[in-house]
Amino acid sequence: MSRIRLRDIVDEAFRRRAVLDMEPRILAIAEELAGELFMEGSPADLVDRYARTLPLSVICELLGLPLEDRPKFTAWASGFTRLTGTIGLLSLIPKILAMRRYLEQRLEAARQNGGTGLVAELVRVEREGGRISRDEMVAMVFLLLLAGHETTTHLISGSVYELLRTPSLRDWLEEDWSRAGLAVEEFLRFISVVQFSKPRFVRKDVELGGVRLKKGDKIMPMLAAANFDPQANRCPEKLDLARKPNRHLAFGTGIHFCLGHQLARLEGVCALKALFRRWPKLALAVDESEIEWRRRPGLRGIDHLPVTIARQRQ
Ligand code: HEM
Repeated sequence: MSRIRLRDIVDEAFRRRAVLDMEPRILAIAEELAGELFMEGSPADLVDRYARTLPLSVICELLGLPLEDRPKFTAWASGFTRLTGTIGLLSLIPKILAMRRYLEQRLEAARQNGGTGLVAELVRVEREGGRISRDEMVAMVFLLLLAGHETTTHLISGSVYELLRTPSLRDWLEEDWSRAGLAVEEFLRFISVVQFSKPRFVRKDVELGGVRLKKGDKIMPMLAAANFDPQANRCPEKLDLARKPNRHLAFGTGIHFCLGHQLARLEGVCALKALFRRWPKLALAVDESEIEWRRRPGLRGIDHLPVTIARQRQ
């Protein structure tokens, strides 16, 4: 099957309507995960138990994987996105192979019995004459996992962190949950999870902000810098959940503009709604100065966010 065709299928699944139709399901998944947050005790790590599991469960949903397989799939996938160093990379090989075998089985099952989601969609296209190689199938799943999982995890945990440390913002949101979309837009800007885009090459000599660039130069557009540009948004250093318009580049721009932007926005909204409605007394379990942001450039995020319901809000 041609790459264009494969991309068409994925695009179709990410159409605005298709994504918006997923809202009740995403909210239900978020509510279920929120309900299980303290199942193994308090404090709990919000990153591990919620911000990571929600986007993964949504990708399982999108692919149409059977419910009973999801813990297995989630365990492999968390390994990929938690990657550190070469040893980590080598230890992934068995997981990648296992996932590949598993996806082949899912394709076969969909050929026999049909189903829903992207896997079944690929089989439908195959029936209409396209060929899907197992590499293409695996590549598609990996693209969704790598581009859509960790980014959304950091959006969720970063937003929760900001709300937990600033009760006035949280009160404003809790007063009216229809504000959540606006708030997520500001979290996207303020957290700037993807700090810079993939490299680009200059097409012709140009002067940009006083810097001379020559045709062929390789540049790295800093999305985080654009998001804090005072010419785009007034007082950019202020986290203003009611900011409107919000001129951010959190999802990039141009032909590589994020394919999953609608989905990420929806996941952000559902994650906050489900969590704070379920745990109105949610609080940081440690002093905010103990929360560490990652040092590696590229993705901005928190690795661990210990939360509790033991303490009363001040
Ligand atoms: C908060 C969440 C997310 C953020 C901040 C984000 C950000 C971005 C950015 C900045 C780019 C463009 C990179 C560039 O120009 O070099 C991008 C591309 C992409 N994103 Fe996202 N993303 C998020 C969630 C998702 C989700 C949930 C999915 C899918 C499940 C996804 C799938 C993709 C894909 C496939 C591309 C590549 C598009 C292309 O190259 O044509 N993203 N994303």
